[in-house]
Amino acid sequence: MDLTLINTIILWIHVFSSIIFVGGSFFIWVVVVPASYRITDDEKFRTRIVGLVGKQFAMITNITLAVLIITGIYNATWYLNYDYSALFNTPGGNILLVKIVLVGAMILIMYGNNMYHGKRIMEMAREGKMEELRKLRKWSHMLSYVTLGLMVAITFAAVSLEFY
Ligand code: HEM
Repeated sequence: MDLTLINTIILWIHVFSSIIFVGGSFFIWVVVVPASYRITDDEKFRTRIVGLVGKQFAMITNITLAVLIITGIYNATWYLNYDYSALFNTPGGNILLVKIVLVGAMILIMYGNNMYHGKRIMEMAREGKMEELRKLRKWSHMLSYVTLGLMVAITFAAVSLEFY
């Protein structure tokens, strides 16, 4: 198969995964969480709904992120003209480096937040410890907003790659 066609297909897989990953994450925070307050006033039940939707989406997150990293590394080969020193001494390479650092930070914060807060929030909702639940959720939400902010920065860096 022609190399240009292969690169096009792999970039498309990268962009499509990005749409599902970023779009799905925003959908949860902009649609599912606000809607959950209209579904029920029962905080325990609401936490369970949002927790289960999050858990279901976590599998898609894992798959799309793995695809983004694998296809991203492939894209980087042709983007940098097969010369990795370009990461440090060309404008496009610098932007790609910033993008990679942002992706790393996002992965650490996202999985750290899920592993540390995710299970505890569900446990506290089950046990009815509402005060502790509120405190924990405040931290967890803040880290989730940081993750969403990093997604905005990563996609901005991704689009900037087109022009440098
Ligand atoms: C959360 C992870 C990521 C997201 C959301 C993301 C998003 C995107 C998007 C939307 C584009 C298309 C930009 C355009 O054509 O205008 C793109 C292109 C690209 N991405 Fe990613 N990406 C991610 C991870 C990575 C990683 C880890 C790498 C490298 C190791 C990478 C390397 C590239 C390269 C080289 C391009 C091609 C730029 C071009 O078409 O000129 N990406 N990315």
